[in-house]
Amino acid sequence: MNKHDSEKIAGILQDSGFQYEKDLSNADIIIFNTCTVRESADGRLFGQLGNIKRLKEEKPDLIVAIGGCLAQSYGGKLLFQFPQLDIVFGTHNINRFSYLLNERIKSGNKVFELKSEDNYDVSCLPTLREKPFLAWVSIMRGCNNFCSYCIVPYVRGKQWSRSAYEIIEEVKNLTLDGVIEITLLGQNVNSYGKDLNDEMNFPQLLEKLSQISKLKRIRFITSHPKDFDNETVKVVAESEILCNHFHFPLQSGSNKVLQDMNRRYTKEQYLKLIDEIYRMIPDASITTDIIVGFPTETEEDFLETLDVVEKAKFDSAFTFIYSPRSGTKAIGFKDISSNEEKMNRFSRLVDKQTNISQMKNNYLIGKNLDILVEDFSKKDKKMLMGRTKTNKIVNFKGDSNLIGKIVNVKIILAKAHYLIGELKIN
Ligand code: 5AD
Ligand code: SF4
Repeated sequence: MNKHDSEKIAGILQDSGFQYEKDLSNADIIIFNTCTVRESADGRLFGQLGNIKRLKEEKPDLIVAIGGCLAQSYGGKLLFQFPQLDIVFGTHNINRFSYLLNERIKSGNKVFELKSEDNYDVSCLPTLREKPFLAWVSIMRGCNNFCSYCIVPYVRGKQWSRSAYEIIEEVKNLTLDGVIEITLLGQNVNSYGKDLNDEMNFPQLLEKLSQISKLKRIRFITSHPKDFDNETVKVVAESEILCNHFHFPLQSGSNKVLQDMNRRYTKEQYLKLIDEIYRMIPDASITTDIIVGFPTETEEDFLETLDVVEKAKFDSAFTFIYSPRSGTKAIGFKDISSNEEKMNRFSRLVDKQTNISQMKNNYLIGKNLDILVEDFSKKDKKMLMGRTKTNKIVNFKGDSNLIGKIVNVKIILAKAHYLIGELKIN
């Protein structure tokens, strides 16, 4: 969602005559679009602000702005804490960025705005997309779930679904603009539409979008096990362009911890949903998010998480150590394990998942897969990088004119986090 919002901020600036500048020391405006989901994100931002202080001393006209979740959470006090900042704007104020920037330039005063508006929509704002053939499409904003560890509902507000008609129109227009892959965004896409009257639910929306001609791939993140339904799996199974990848956060494999996290499903229900996905779509990939060291997690609870990870056979997992966030319910929970125990659990989890990811990728060696070529590989500029429908990264040798196209490659080598392929010449 932050990447999507950043493309909107960049679009606003481009419309006002600014250009993207890679080199920070040449920039006239620097904008941080922040995350605050874990303390490490805050830390990274504060570190960067130190570097910016030096730049600002050399170039006093430089304008430094901070938006996003950290800005929403910390508010105007950031301007006092960090004198190098000029503008602070909240998660619901992106549509006002142009106005705030003009205010700063005209008046010379520092500005901040954190108003929180219901039905806040950024879809009509201009966009500067990183890749012309890929687009993020936000189908809803905010979240009503209040998982006890999570700050998102406090900084992004309550769930608000966009009208299906508007989403479909936006996607049609994107295809006219050359987009062939879209990623639908929502904190909990399976609850899409529950706050609207007489509109479509998520599988119905998917079905409608999958009929748009010229669109080659549709992805969606993030699914929530409590609202996930087989209808969604059925629609994905029946469509060529709906990608067979499900990002399906588990968070913990212990029913006690899941309850303390307010996740509203059990590990048994979770595993049953996964079985159903694999039964209906045998080549589906399933990825997840897992938190270790939640305050009430014991070693036995953690072993249950390892057990679910073993059974679920995730393709990959984002793993996190619990990070206390002020204002959330879990901040009041007594923490029963030490940092060493948490680090130890974290590395055991990462080891187990890396082995499973490697095993699942080994299975793809020798297979021919369609990939959408996105760019040069970050690791090796002589290679191209693309993604399979299952969202696996494949690096292969090929000409740069393949970027933006779907090509067929034979997988010749598997690593835990990416694959190496060979272009098939038809
Ligand atoms: N500590 C650690 N991880 C967190 N996440 C959300 N809040 C926290 C927190 N306080 C993780 C969850 C979520 C992902 C986006 O970030 O796993 O799914
Ligand atoms: Fe946070 Fe839970 Fe909402 Fe995800 S579903 S954004 S973890 S509160």
